[in-house]
Formats: sequence, C-alpha cells, structure tokens
Amino acid sequence: MEKRKIILDCDPGHDDAIAMMMAARHPKIDLLGITIVAGNQTLDKTLTNGLNVCQHLDIQVPVYAGMSVPMLRQQVVADDIHGETGLDGPVFAPLVREAENKHAVAYLIETLMASDGDIVLVPVGPLSNIGMAMRMEPRIVGKIKEIVLMGGAYGLGNVTPAAEFNIFADPEAAHIVFASGVPLVMMGLDLTNQTVCTPDIIERMENVGNRAGKLFGDIMRFTLKTQHEVYGLEGGPVHDATCVAYLIEPDIFTLQEMFTEIDITGGPSYGRTVCDYYGNLGKPANGKVGITLNRDRFWDLVERCVSLYRD
Ligand code: BDR
Ligand code: CA
Repeated sequence: MEKRKIILDCDPGHDDAIAMMMAARHPKIDLLGITIVAGNQTLDKTLTNGLNVCQHLDIQVPVYAGMSVPMLRQQVVADDIHGETGLDGPVFAPLVREAENKHAVAYLIETLMASDGDIVLVPVGPLSNIGMAMRMEPRIVGKIKEIVLMGGAYGLGNVTPAAEFNIFADPEAAHIVFASGVPLVMMGLDLTNQTVCTPDIIERMENVGNRAGKLFGDIMRFTLKTQHEVYGLEGGPVHDATCVAYLIEPDIFTLQEMFTEIDITGGPSYGRTVCDYYGNLGKPANGKVGITLNRDRFWDLVERCVSLYRD
C-alpha cells in the first residue's frame, strides 16, 4: 500500500490530539514528524500537550517545538474552548518524553529540501511555522507536494463574524501560505462543523475498549462542555481530524476549487479567508475548499483509527 508522507503541524488542542491519534497508526500514512506551534495555548503548553499525547499513545515520532508567537499580530489563544492547559480533560502520567533539540522551522526546511518533493504538510493550527519556513527558505515551496490544512471558512467565522481561529491567530503567516502557489486543500469551518461529535459517538469510541478510545472520550467530553458554553451547541466538532481523514479516504469529502486570499488589512474582517466561491474574480484557483463530508463514513474511519491501538 502506498503511504502518504506527512508532517503534522499542530497546536494541541483537543481536535489536534484526535488528528495525531489518527495519523500515527493508519497504514496509509507515514507520519514523519510532528511540529508544534502556539495557538490554542502558548507554545510551552501546546508542546507539553503534544508530548503527553505521544507518550500516552506510544507515538514514536519526533516532535519539534516551533513558533511561540505570530508573525506580526499580538498573540491570541483559545482557552475558552481548550482550557487553561490547552488540553483540559484528560489526565496524563508524569511527562518523560522530550522534544527534539531543533526548531520546528529548521526541521521543516531541512526535511523538505532533502525530500523528493513527496511530503504533504498538514497544518491544523496557526500557520506561523509554515509561513516562517517559506520566508526563511523560499525554495521549500517547490518541494511541498500539497498542504492540507484546517482553517478558515467561506461562510461564518468562529472568533469574529468573519474569521476562523487558526487564520485569525496569524493572518500574515496564512497570507504567505495561501499566496505561495503550493496546491492547497482548505478544510474550513463550513466542512469541519459537519463533524459534530455527540455523546453516542463518544460511547462508540470508548467501547473500542483501548487506551485511544478512552483518550478520545476524555478529550471530547471536555470539548462538548466548552462548545455548549461558548456556542450553545449540543456536540463538538473534531475540526483537525478532517485533514487526516481526507488523506486516508479522500472520497468521503466533496471539495470545490476556488481562489482564496487572506484579509490582512486589519479591519473587521482581519483574518478572513476570502473565498471566491462563485468565481467572481476570474482568478485561477489556488486550492480546493472542503464543502461536504459523509458523516457515517467519517466516524467509521475514526473508529477504525482508534481500533488500531493495541491496549
Ligand atoms: C481550529 O481552532 C482550534 O481551536 C482547533 O484546534 C482547530 O484547529 C478551529 O477553529
Ligand atoms: Ca488545532
């Protein structure tokens, strides 16, 4: 079976942890490394969370700490959704797992430059690491096979009326990435909000009866609580997991090619992914945007990924 080589760039984060869980064991994915960025919480916390998840699930993949602040804007975090630690809910054993002694941006540049152009980047947090890598070594642009990212929306935002969190947290970095010319797949809120996890789904994953299923439950019970408090929702989306699911089973999704640019003008739409859904601008598409997913097939895949853990 042909494996897809990926680097997962994340800010764990509840749904980030589910994406890690899925990417680390599925036979169609070759997870080369995990790069961490500040986002849902500050970098020290997202790094600790990423290492905790790796240690807990015995994910033997190198982890690199990256950008602790955005390119330009003042830092924002999502503690209303992810809590004080950035991954409130699960309780982990004392942490012994350590990050590699190299900056995530240096790792990205070295790995991409040494590659045959066959690596897919999967950013599911603010795009600070990827944007910075593109600025430090512009030649990586021609080496990236594809970027499959969680971020943005062609409809409503979730932190402002116009902007989604990952893009809003570093709009300038997102602008670099969206204008880079690398083929993009954007899983925005319009798509990811179709992955609302409800108590029956949690029960289903817990019934797998292993450590991954238990962690899924501990993570998503907290998400359900905060999604209810903040948005009044009865359930919580696993936004970031869609990117990994797409790489494993793309035909679960429908996508539409379109031109998208990031609003970095600093007004009320700062951080918006301005998606030319109707092609009004007549500009060539710079990516595919997720529109729909088959919910049953999506949750079946998540369950299969959870089942791949032995204990
Ligand atoms: C995105 O923001 C974060 O809170 C989640 O991890 C996800 O990547 C959703 O807007
Ligand atoms: Ca995330």
